[in-house]
Amino acid sequence: MKKSLQVFAGVCALITLVSLNAFAQSNKKIVLGFSQIGAESEWRTANTESIKAAAAAAGIELKFADAQQKQENQIKAIRSFIAQKVDVIAFSPVVETGWETVLQEAKRAKIPVILTDRAVNVKDDSLYVSFMGSDFVEEGRRAAVWLMGYLHTDKPVNIVELQGTVGSAPAIDRKRGFEEMLKPFPNYKIIRSQTGDFTRAKGKEVMEAFLKAEGKNINVLFAHNDDMAIGAIQAIEEFGLKPGKDIIIVSIDAVKGAFEAMIAGKLNCTVECSPLLGEQLMAAVKDLMAGKTLPKRIVTNEGVYPAEFAAQVFPSRKY
Ligand code: AHR
Repeated sequence: MKKSLQVFAGVCALITLVSLNAFAQSNKKIVLGFSQIGAESEWRTANTESIKAAAAAAGIELKFADAQQKQENQIKAIRSFIAQKVDVIAFSPVVETGWETVLQEAKRAKIPVILTDRAVNVKDDSLYVSFMGSDFVEEGRRAAVWLMGYLHTDKPVNIVELQGTVGSAPAIDRKRGFEEMLKPFPNYKIIRSQTGDFTRAKGKEVMEAFLKAEGKNINVLFAHNDDMAIGAIQAIEEFGLKPGKDIIIVSIDAVKGAFEAMIAGKLNCTVECSPLLGEQLMAAVKDLMAGKTLPKRIVTNEGVYPAEFAAQVFPSRKY
């Protein structure tokens, strides 16, 4: 019985390999369904451009769907990719949980799924073939390490935090990494923490509320992305304080807008999170269709940019 099961599994694997090879030789265009979160930030816009440009350059037919920050729209898009029998599905999940059912549907339809940028929280990790993107916990750690190195003080430091979208991997992980580094130094205290949903408008609105409640008591702003920091800078100026001086600001992404703010002396540091995942994704899609196995996790290489280096680095920034 065991032997015949092994033979059956071997035959199935062989059939998959043979059909993938036949696909590779048929010159048929690979069809990729991609469900994007939305257009909430400068980062997201650069990510979308990178994916569209890389698909065109790789000769891959891209079916692109914008979910406008809603999980239900992403689930609908994935179901429609399944119905259209695309070759590969990739998506950047807006939140971590709630994906099991739709991913099982993709698996039953034998369509491989690649996660880009954000992770999902599922018990069965065979529901996706690979996850490519940043290490968000590490980004949070880097922001804290930079901050403590910059201030180098044992005096009380009052921090306000603008979190990303509730339930999203970057919001959860960046908070975790940041708090982990601060834990041994109790003089660094997060006095207020609220979501700004990764947008400038919400970042400004929440910072206004922080300022109203705490006034000059705030020493530091940690924003989970540059867009919220840029919104908050406006709120700080309107409140009559100097961003980057009266309130030290560290954020994440390293988009061009953050470099402009650093050059203007209004932002102190940005931790890089690269949205340029397009080429890597298309290479992975081609490898998959050629029958290759992808690494389960592909981590993006990233740096930290304090304001002192902003003017020098700015001309070479790609997003
Ligand atoms: O998932 C990456 C995050 O999503 C970026 O940091 C943020 O700007 C974007 O909206």
